[in-house]
Amino acid sequence: MAGPVDCYAVMGNPVAHSKSPVIHTLFADDTDQNMRYSAILVDIDGFQQAVDEFFANGDLGLSITVPFKQEAWELAQRRTFRAERAGAVNTLWQDEQGLLHGDNTDGAGLIADLKNNDITIKDMRVLILGAGGAVRGVLDPVLNEQPAEVVIANRTVAKADALVSLFPEKPISASAYENLQGCFDLVINGTAASLHGEMPPLPEHTIGHRTGCYDMMYASGETVFNSWCRTHGAGKTMDGLGMLVEQAAEQFALWRGVRPDSTRILDLLRKEMV
Ligand code: ATR
Repeated sequence: MAGPVDCYAVMGNPVAHSKSPVIHTLFADDTDQNMRYSAILVDIDGFQQAVDEFFANGDLGLSITVPFKQEAWELAQRRTFRAERAGAVNTLWQDEQGLLHGDNTDGAGLIADLKNNDITIKDMRVLILGAGGAVRGVLDPVLNEQPAEVVIANRTVAKADALVSLFPEKPISASAYENLQGCFDLVINGTAASLHGEMPPLPEHTIGHRTGCYDMMYASGETVFNSWCRTHGAGKTMDGLGMLVEQAAEQFALWRGVRPDSTRILDLLRKEMV
């Protein structure tokens, strides 16, 4: 192929586990884009320098993963509204004037994957578990889908209260796990519990035979959360691999102006993981 190759990368620490290079390379093949996408391991205190060097080299766009999303938010000179609300940035690019732009595509990825699974949030009672950065990143897009109600449950209720206070006009409240009332239409696990093979202390009555259960984490097998929900009679369980692919598709569309066939690429990844 003629001409220089456009370069993109994911920055994180650790980063070796990241599926972003595989996903974006499949997207590039799918859409005939002449680009390269790599993974860059960045020192914990070296993020700003790494970002500066990347763009000074003429490279075009970055995906940002743990633990740099908040720092990326601070570095960005222009932020989209959804990134502003998320308090975190997972997508960086530079414009012709050299201004650094930041966006957050995580929430859009979650909503797109829920839709792919025939889940429409409108008028649903939604329970979200956890009150860290992962949950904050998806709250605004979830609320924009007009649920009847969103309840955030967290072990440390004060953190859930702080998130609720960001949305004074919306039907959202905080709760301790043990005070949760009734059954929900959709339960989204945004805690870090699955990373440690743990299950949040979710009361059984919150899950019914029509409840959709979504773990924002994914694993090669079933996650602890999804296994618990399935054995407690959930209507449907989904993991976060689809969200990962969809948030990447949103980034790719921002950078390249073309949208890849994310469903086909998710199928390929699933086959690769079994
Ligand atoms: P992230 O940026 O990935 O969201 P974080 O900001 O450290 O990470 O937040 C982790 C979230 O997972 C928190 O809501 C945490 O609950 P607390 O605030 O009460 O600590 C939640 N979490 C982690 N392990 C958990 C477990 N075993 N059970 C329930 N919640 C858990």
